[in-house]
Parts: sequence; C-alpha cells; structure tokens
Amino acid sequence: PPAVAAVPQTGAEGLVLLRRVGVVDPGSLDDYRAHGGYAALRRAFALGPAGVIREVTEAGLVGRGGAAFPTGRKWSATAQQPDHPHYLVCNADESEPGTFKDRVLMEGDPYALIEAMTVAGYATGAHRGYLYLRGEYPRALHRLRTAIDRARARGLLGEDVMGQGFAFDIEIRRGAGAYICGEETAIFNSIEGRRGEPRSKPPFPVEKGLFGKPTAVNNVETLVNVLPILIDGAQAYARTGTDTSTGTKLFCVSGTVARPGVYELPFGATLRELLELAGPPETLRAVLLGGAAGGFVRPDELDVPLTFEGTRAAGTTLGSGVVLVLDESVELPRVLLRIAEFFRDESCGQCVPCRVGTVRQEEALHRLKDRTGAAAAGDIALLREVGRAMRDASICGLGQTAWNAVESAIDRLGAFK
Ligand code: NAI
Ligand code: SF4
Repeated sequence: PPAVAAVPQTGAEGLVLLRRVGVVDPGSLDDYRAHGGYAALRRAFALGPAGVIREVTEAGLVGRGGAAFPTGRKWSATAQQPDHPHYLVCNADESEPGTFKDRVLMEGDPYALIEAMTVAGYATGAHRGYLYLRGEYPRALHRLRTAIDRARARGLLGEDVMGQGFAFDIEIRRGAGAYICGEETAIFNSIEGRRGEPRSKPPFPVEKGLFGKPTAVNNVETLVNVLPILIDGAQAYARTGTDTSTGTKLFCVSGTVARPGVYELPFGATLRELLELAGPPETLRAVLLGGAAGGFVRPDELDVPLTFEGTRAAGTTLGSGVVLVLDESVELPRVLLRIAEFFRDESCGQCVPCRVGTVRQEEALHRLKDRTGAAAAGDIALLREVGRAMRDASICGLGQTAWNAVESAIDRLGAFK
C-alpha cells in the first residue's frame, strides 16, 4: 500500500473523511480538537442516544466494510436489546486484498476513530468497545494506543466521558494474520480466546454477539462517517452521493495506474472519473472491483457509477472499495490462480463446501493455466459446479464468495476461451 504521505489524493472538492489526514499531527489531541475534533461527541450528548440513531438513519449511512448494511438499523437493534451489557466492536481487521483505506484513516486521524467509537457506544448503550486491529498494522497500533491513552487522560474516555455521566472505554485486540478473523463472528471468537472461526448467523450479533451479548460491529470507515453526520446534520450529509448511496466513499486504487492510493469521491462518480485521477494504463484489460470476492469490469463499462446499486447492476460489487486495475500485460489466469490460492489458504476449514471447494477450485485453475477452448470446457464446468456448492452451502462470506471473481472472469472477460 502507498505510504501515508501519499494521501490524501482526490479530485473532489471538499474532502470529508480524509480532511484531516496529512493535515493534523496524529499524535496530538490538541491538534485534533483544533481541527474540529470532539464537536461530534458534544452534539451526540445534546441529541441523546435515540437522537444520534435518528440522525445516522436519516443520513442513509450504510456499512463500508463491504456489505452495506444500514448502520442506523444495526444501532437501533442493538440499543433495543433488553439483555446487558451491550458491546461495540470496531472491525479494523482490514484484510481484503487490495484494501488499505482504514489503515490510512487510523494512521492519519486516529482520534477520529476513537471519538466515533465513543459516539457509537453512547448510541447503542455499550460501555466497552473493542478495536480489533489487523496484526500487520504496527503504525496504526502505535498511534491508536497513544490516542486512547491521551483521550483517557483528558476525560474523553473512562468513567465519566466529558463529564456527561457516560462511561466508555476502548481496548485494542490484535489479529494474527488470519483473513477469516475479519469476519464479525470470528472476531468474537478471537477476542474470547477461541479459534478464529465464524459462527452461524442468525442469531445476528445485534442480538447475540461478543460473549453472547448484544453487539454492534462496525467497520472503521463506517464509524468515521458518523462524525460529519453529527456535525453537519443528516440532511446536509445526504445531499452528497445518490439517493441510496449517500455521502462519500474511500477507494483503494492499485495495480497498473500511475498514482495508486486512497481516493475519496462522492458516491455516483464513475469508474472512468476515478481512473482519470489515478492515471489509467494505456491498454486497459479490466478492473477488479470489490476485491477477491468481487467482479471484473471491462474497458467498455467504465461509465459504471460507483454506488452500491450501480455496481450491483453491472454484475459486480463495490465491496470495501477495492479498485484493482489490470493492463494487457497481466496474465489473467495467473491472477485468478492467485485469488484461488488465497481463498484456499485462508479458508478456516470448518465447513466442507469451502474447505474442499477452495482446493478443487485451485486445482482446476492450475490445469486451466495452459488450456483454452474445448480443452478447458470440462474444468470450467467443474468450476461452476464447485462454485455453486460453495455459494449455496458455506457457513460464511468467505466460502460464499470464493468463486465470484473466477466466475466473473469467465462470464464477463471470456477467460479461457
Ligand atoms: P452480511 O451481509 O452477512 O452482514 C453485514 C452486516 O449486517 C453484519 O454486521 C451483519 O451482522 C448485519 N446483518 C445482516 N442481516 C442482519 C439482520 N437481519 N439483523 C441485524 N443485523 C444484520 O455480510 P458480512 O459477512 O458481514 O460481510 C461481507 C462483506 O465483507 C463482503 O461484502 C466483503 O466485501 C466484505 N469483506 C471486507 C473485508 C475488508 O477487509 N474490509 C474483508 C473480507 C470481506
Ligand atoms: Fe470457514 Fe470457509 Fe466455512 Fe467460512 S465458509 S466457516 S471460512 S470453512
């Protein structure tokens, strides 16, 4: 991923999520406050928990981890649970290949996440927040630890946050390199000291999550969006973007572009506009949107709007904001094989369709490296059958999506023809 110094890069007027990155001193609470920090938490206390949830709901905020679930609904469902205590978990185990936006937020503006988690805890009735951080992010760890310690020392975390009678504190837990530990229920197991394996859903975490208690799990970027919603108001926030994808989005642009990095654009900008900012290759082969679980966009489809609904209509997904650009020099079969190796490696092995399916998929792609046309037909049929079984019968998103990119390459790019 690009160094933090390389961001923010944007062509849009008015950064929202990245506005402090590269501007504030990430170690200084005073600097954060001088740049608008803690105004959102003050507003949250004025609104009350129900008022905060109303603002987040009216803003139309949906999850930025990849699944786009409405945040207001999640918070409201957690807040209403009679069982106590409630927990908040920030999913900072950013492991989707090609995703590095949360890292930029955490390294460049760590207090924003601490403030946003405090707001989320207040809204959902949680007094304890766990920040589950990808183990390979040592700089983010250092900056977040410093931010938590300094916020606590100044009464912005602890028994009586801002003197408002609300108790909230944050504990960092680190992952250890397993992709599956980014799955929300595997995070619970990992924090509880068990094997990092997903649990079956339902029950959803809002009802039965960490330690079996009601839990709101939110991605880093999702939480940071709550700050401008509270400061500017839901209506002002929702004026950016489209009716169903409101606000701005961070895109992680990598591959064969001149200026890889994290870009912030309003939802609704087109892929072509984003590529123009990043410096597209002369001979574009395809763009993988949504990461290893996503799908390919062809050069003749670059006007696809970058929204959840627009990318879905184009047969792919926005996912966590991965934009992996491939030029004509890239050998597509090798890219697919690499993706298949990744899923085989990262499958937790708990359920058969995924444990066996990811191995069969990789084997077929190995054979297909050197085959096309009629010679490839048998393996493509096998891939479809295995893919269907993984999608229909796997416990979690890893197995359910492990065939997405391969299917997309076959159907949309004519791979192995
Ligand atoms: P999901 O669709 O199962 O759930 C999304 C969220 O909504 C979860 O928090 C879930 O608990 C909640 N939810 C769903 N239905 C609910 C209901 N009826 N009541 C209450 N809550 C409900 O998706 P999942 O498996 O959590 O995430 C899949 C996504 O994660 C994929 O789109 C993928 O792109 C993304 N992903 C992102 C990674 C990253 O590094 N950012 C890594 C791997 C995957
Ligand atoms: Fe584990 Fe794969 Fe089953 Fe998910 S789908 S629980 S990663 S074996």
